[in-house]
Order: sequence, then structure tokens, then C-alpha cells
Amino acid sequence: MIKALLAIETSCDETAAAVVDGGGRILSDVVASQVADHAVFGGVVPEIASRRHVELIQPVVDEALQASGLKLHDLSGIAVTQGPGLVGALLVGISYAKALAYGLKIPLCGINHLDGHLGAAAIEHELTYPHIGMVVSGGHTSLYRVNAPGKMGLIGQTMDDAAGEAFDKVAKLLNLGYPGGVVIEKISQGITEHGFELPRPMLKEDNYDFSFSGLKTAILNLVVRLKIFPDLDLSFSGMPRKREPAPGMEAYIPRIAAAFQEAACDVLATKALKAVQDHQLDLLVISGGVACNTALRETIRERADRMGVRFVAPSKKYCTDNAAMIGLAGLRHFKEGRYAGLDLNAVSRWDSV
Ligand code: KG4
Ligand code: ZN
Repeated sequence: MIKALLAIETSCDETAAAVVDGGGRILSDVVASQVADHAVFGGVVPEIASRRHVELIQPVVDEALQASGLKLHDLSGIAVTQGPGLVGALLVGISYAKALAYGLKIPLCGINHLDGHLGAAAIEHELTYPHIGMVVSGGHTSLYRVNAPGKMGLIGQTMDDAAGEAFDKVAKLLNLGYPGGVVIEKISQGITEHGFELPRPMLKEDNYDFSFSGLKTAILNLVVRLKIFPDLDLSFSGMPRKREPAPGMEAYIPRIAAAFQEAACDVLATKALKAVQDHQLDLLVISGGVACNTALRETIRERADRMGVRFVAPSKKYCTDNAAMIGLAGLRHFKEGRYAGLDLNAVSRWDSV
């Protein structure tokens, strides 16, 4: 009998631990965000992420255990994110989980981060199967047909940048700070008439794939054409330089941000709902950091309502990286006896589950 699992997630820039009981109840859920450590660089710096995970993992696990009211000897097993993600970051969680499992003589399992995201909505909602699941994050923009919990097939994905990556790069270009999605959503609020026509890459193609690099380039071209920043650094990389808009050009920035958000949400909503319709299904579930975006949620909800499709998005804390979702996926692994050995290793790319 499974009394409780400890779940650990360190795939990117959140150090997270959760305790889940045998019935799937989340007893505790702790996330230490490293956003402030990476904000100065305008994006996640892998080496800094690994080092912060090393510092944070023990206090985060301690806090998760304490908040659950359980002790180490109450744990029946440990579930840890195996990939995809930053290898150095993943290895911190994996090494910690292995050592603890070995010390406590309890089983271990390695979880696919995307499996975690796709099941995150089940923490708060009843899900029906099959359905279409969309993961939209800083590293992924992928559509899956989810046939049963943990049983999914990839049907479409981004050909270049992930949606969150595009939000982050556009925010960097517009000098708005990091993380891009949050600041773009904030600055775009209330803007209905932005006055720009932006491309909708791959929208008309009869598949479920996405492309965001063309949209990003369209924003760059707009910024260059309108001469918004007199000293524009076109490299998009390195430390973001503080640059001021040319006099009188400040007002364009929220409008450009709103135009980008509208185009990105339109493409995501259209492709996801096309998948639901083509597969003759009645449920769309989204997850990942970009799924926090209110404009995206509203665009999908409005269209889904018109189509008679049920739309489910987890609350924001379960959209972004967390260990509760890894715990739920872990529970399934344990019930199915899918244990990992102490040779468990990190996987940087792992799209199909
Ligand atoms: O799922 P997540 O926390 O980490 C990854 O697994 O990547 O997603 C982070 C991404 C970042 O690119 C961030 O800009 C984006 O999610 N994001 C948002 C919002 N909040 C976070 N994008 C759009 N709107 C938001 N409100
Ligand atoms: Zn994620």
C-alpha cells in the first residue's frame, strides 16, 4: 500500500518538492522560484540554475515534509523529474532523490516533466479521456492526444521557438524585463485597438505544428521600422542592455506587446481547438507557464464555448513548474510497478511519453 510519495522537480529554474498521499491528495507543495536570480540576465542561465538547486533542494524538501505532517519514514517512495530539461538542473534532483531512496530503502521512479504538466489539471478537475492536451511553456509548445492518464501521443509541436520563449524574447526586445509572459500580459492589459497586423505563422497549414520565430522577427522588423529604440542591440542575447525608447515612442510598446500576445494566443487557440475538432473530442486541457496567460485562457474559453468543447486549465500554481504534478504522475508509476534503478539518468529531450 502506498502511504505517501515525495516528489521532486528541478528541470529548469524552480526547485520544487511535494508530498502526495496514496489517494492522490496533495499534502504539501513547495516551490522555490529562482526568477530573481535569472531576471538580471533576461533568461534562465543553466549553470546558475544548477547551483541554486544544490542550495535549495534540502530546505525545500524539509519544508514539504514538514508541511505534510509526515516524517521521512512515512514515505513509500520518491518520484523525481527525469527530463526533459536542463541536464545539470535535473541531475541535482535526481542525485538527491537517488541518495534519499537508497538511504530509506524505498523505491524510486523517474517522471517525464511533460507527463506531469499534462496531468496537472487532474489535481483540481475531473478529466475525461481521450482529450487533447496542450503544454505551452518556456521549453515546449506541444499538442497531445491523451488517451488515458499517462498515455499520450504527440500530434504537433513547435518547429522553432516555444511559445514562452517567444514571449521572453519579445519582452527582452521591448525592454520589458523577465519573465516575458508575465510582463507582456501586464503591459497589454486593456489594449483592444493596438493597430498592428501581425502574421499568424502556420495557422492555415493542415497540421498541429506551430512556429513562433517568424512572429518574433515580425516584431523585430516593426521595432526597427518604427525606430522605437535609437540604440537597438539586434543580437537578442547576452545581458539585456537598458535602452530607452526614442522620445515620443513609449506609447508604441504596450501596443506592440498586445499585438504579439493577440497573435500568439490566436495561433495557440486555433491549433489546439482544430485538434479537438479533427479528433472528434470534447475536452481541451492546457498547462505550462504560458497557460497562466489570461488572454490565452479567455480566447480559448470563448471559442471553446461556441464549439461546445469543454476547456480546462489548472490554477496558475499548477500551470508553472511544480512537484505536485510530478507526484501525481509518480503515483501512477508506482501503482503500475514502474520503478527506476539507481542508474536513473537525466534526459534533456524526451517529447513522447
Ligand atoms: O512551465 P514554466 O514555468 O517552465 C518551463 O517548463 O518552461 O514556463 C515558463 C514560461 C516562461 O517562458 C514565461 O515567460 C511563460 O512561461 N509565462 C507566461 C506567463 N507566465 C509565465 N507566458 C504568458 N503569459 C503569462 N502570464
Ligand atoms: Zn514546465
